[in-house]
Amino acid sequence: MKIISNPLELKEYLKDKRETDGFQVKQSVGFVPTMGALHEGHISLIREARKNNDIVVVSIFVNPTQFLKGEDLDKYPKKYDADKKICEIGGVDILFFPEAKDMYGNDEVSILAPIVRGYVLEGTSRPGHFNGVLTVVMKLLNIVEPTRAYFGKKDAQQLNLISLMVKHFFMSVEIVAVDTVRESDGLALSSRNVYLSKEERQEALKISSSLQLGAKMLTQNVVEVEEILKKMREILSPLEVSYVEILNRDFEIIKKVEIGNSIILVEARVGTTRLLDNIWL
Ligand code: PAF
Repeated sequence: MKIISNPLELKEYLKDKRETDGFQVKQSVGFVPTMGALHEGHISLIREARKNNDIVVVSIFVNPTQFLKGEDLDKYPKKYDADKKICEIGGVDILFFPEAKDMYGNDEVSILAPIVRGYVLEGTSRPGHFNGVLTVVMKLLNIVEPTRAYFGKKDAQQLNLISLMVKHFFMSVEIVAVDTVRESDGLALSSRNVYLSKEERQEALKISSSLQLGAKMLTQNVVEVEEILKKMREILSPLEVSYVEILNRDFEIIKKVEIGNSIILVEARVGTTRLLDNIWL
């Protein structure tokens, strides 16, 4: 596995690799952008990328512009050695590990998330967060120029905004959405789970339980959004819930669940940890 930290060096390296290795058929590149502290969720993204591409690139970059003042940028878990091992075992060809100074200059241009979709849900509690996400993802995609880029469904709003950016900026990358990986008791994997105490981890299960209840109600032919949300709120009520919503997959408000085109999203604080989860219906 090759490790590269300079963006331009990676761009050159990939250009050569595509040209020299790709005799007649252009080599496909699968890209998994991450902020490190890799877990099974990331491993499933890497696995998908490995399955369908000739070259697999993983980036580890804790992007400062997507953290708001007072958020956990400084204490965000860093596990470089373990991450490197995971990438090696996962068959990653190139690990991109840049520093902030190489990714950002002075007098920066930034991509702005649309007001409607970028400032609701997670964007309400973290205004400007998605501007940072879109800006860094645009930079990363321009450096790697992947055929396919892999994102987890757990960060559904991020995934939606990135797909929108790729569409509206006429970018040729294919965005691949990968299912959320869960612990056996239902807790969605997240790098932030390490912040949870034993008791908090138990409390956090209310999030996945509420989503399961929502999905179960649908199997009992309950499709009224308000009715489902009311029951879900009962389970979630001991937690500090930032939002629980049922939207269509374009993140628009709906009154009745549209099977195959809906998503239930929850964000709740457990202790001081903000947890996101969702289920695609
Ligand atoms: O989902 C993440 O880990 C980050 O938001 C991403 C996409 C790597 C951008 O920094």
